[in-house]
Amino acid sequence: MCGIVGYIGDKNVYPILIGGLQRLEYRGYDSAGIAIFNEDLKVYKCKGKVSDLENYVASKDVHGTVGMGHTRWATHGEPNDTNAHPHTSMNGNFVLVHNGIIENYAEIKSDLIKKGIVFKTETDTEVLCNLIEFYYEKGENVSAELAVRMALSKIVGAYGIVVFCKNEPDKLIAARKGSPLVVGIGRGEYFLASDATPIVEYTDSMIYLNDEDVAIVSKDGLTLKTIQNDPVAFKVTKVDLSIGDLEKGNFEHFMLKEIFEQPKTIADTFRGRIKADQSDIVLGGLIDVFPKLLAADRIIIIGCGTSWHAALVGEYMIEEYARIPVEVEYASEFRYRKPILGEKDVVIAISQSGETADTLAALKMAKEMGATILGVCNVVGSSISRETDGGVYTHAGVEIGVASTKAFTAQVTVMIMLALKLAKEKGTIAPELYGSLIRDLAEVPGKVKSILVKHPHIKEIAEKYKDAVNALYLGRGYLFPVALEGALKLKEISYIHAEGYAAGEMKHGPIALVDTNLPVVVVAAKDSYYEKIVSNIQEVKARKGNIIAVVTEGDSHLKEMCNDVFEIPKSHPAIAPLLAIIPLQLFSYYIAVLRGCNVDQPRNLAKSVTVE
Ligand code: AGP
Repeated sequence: MCGIVGYIGDKNVYPILIGGLQRLEYRGYDSAGIAIFNEDLKVYKCKGKVSDLENYVASKDVHGTVGMGHTRWATHGEPNDTNAHPHTSMNGNFVLVHNGIIENYAEIKSDLIKKGIVFKTETDTEVLCNLIEFYYEKGENVSAELAVRMALSKIVGAYGIVVFCKNEPDKLIAARKGSPLVVGIGRGEYFLASDATPIVEYTDSMIYLNDEDVAIVSKDGLTLKTIQNDPVAFKVTKVDLSIGDLEKGNFEHFMLKEIFEQPKTIADTFRGRIKADQSDIVLGGLIDVFPKLLAADRIIIIGCGTSWHAALVGEYMIEEYARIPVEVEYASEFRYRKPILGEKDVVIAISQSGETADTLAALKMAKEMGATILGVCNVVGSSISRETDGGVYTHAGVEIGVASTKAFTAQVTVMIMLALKLAKEKGTIAPELYGSLIRDLAEVPGKVKSILVKHPHIKEIAEKYKDAVNALYLGRGYLFPVALEGALKLKEISYIHAEGYAAGEMKHGPIALVDTNLPVVVVAAKDSYYEKIVSNIQEVKARKGNIIAVVTEGDSHLKEMCNDVFEIPKSHPAIAPLLAIIPLQLFSYYIAVLRGCNVDQPRNLAKSVTVE
């Protein structure tokens, strides 16, 4: 997912741009560039990292007080210097950075070529830049802003853009549709960015643009309108991000820092929501829609990747305790398969970033079909959170590592609270059980701490399996989603092919994979499935598989049976996912580090997939 940062004011713009791009690196990218205006327009861009860009501009003139920067995650056109952003128009009047995909760029490009426009790159972004210049030069007294709005009205697809016109050097123009863009408000200065992280050190006052908003910022102020030129009232959001949130501190990687933050972030997720006397769970963002949840014929939980795994935990718990039918859907499938939805359905979107394109699109489809739509998001003010009828923020703090860790446990914590609240309101859970589950949840941060202190042991086990080529993760019940999540963690940061499976499915295929070269990770904490999962372990052992098991502390039986074990404290089965995932997060982290992988920015991955 591309990253954007822009500035106009009195400060030297270069450090703001480069520093902003460094804070955006976590989003994943393959090239970077900046454009700075100071009497003339200077554009510097190259394939590679932000550090490569810094080396490239070391001897260049980077003075100026207005400019933009971009980290590119290639969609159209291979990663190279030419295709990197910013892009300039043919006659040099405009420079632009873009996050998104222009679906009709080919027809626009061929039309512009017929009109004599010459292109330098393979990108869809350059097409938009030249379309703006085309409108700018075509009419009489067409302003830069009008040219931008005219061009955007022809675009099909998603965009978050920052545009500069060298003939109107006192302003920057920003616009969004489908790709997030935020305006940071300073004193006589404005910041533009894909999210708050690159600009939060300068201001905590943000305006999150909505689809088809256009913002024109200059030292004199801000104008907000739609691409149809209608004025837009805007809301200023105060973000509570600190610089510390954006630094690794004493940790080697953001992922490790975020794994170790989980005792605090899980507590932050339920803090203020579980009443001190544990008599009730207060989910303020759901108050207005709660009657719809209670009366729902069906709850459909949608998400992608890790968020989809958290949704599975929610499905199991809501059905078991609140007795409301639940379906879990991959957003990327749900949005296209023509599902049957109605007003008695509630659709919950789980999304850490709140910007995942498939999840946002699936949610909009559900809204159009009359369902009540809710969000469980981590980023305040994100597109999904602003699209819903209500929701719950996970309060996990900014998650920089591409591999989701603290967001997952925060999402599961919200699912647990939601299931318990629904069950209590419906009277489908015994008060004693409700109370014991609440107490168990409240003890999770301490129990997670007790697992984290065992990280040297987990690292030792990781060293044994770092050269694996494949891995199989197995679980049952509430621990089946944990097996899926553990496998995703390993594959996405160590590039080992890891597959998560319901343990009961072993005999229907996966057991054919088992041999002495295959590590089999079994999530086997004590629960009602325990006897069954032990027999699965025996089946693997009989075929010389290497078994690494997540077990309940003191399980000497499995310690005896397995090659290696990760012990977790005893807890109620519905709470166990919050504990069982911790050693698997660390296991995958250490293996990835031992394999020399780029843990925080794994190859080919982006932190949030805002393009389809
Ligand atoms: C998980 O480690 C990955 N980063 C990825 O699967 C992620 O969970 C998925 O892209 C969904 O992102 P979201 O929660 O921001 O919607």
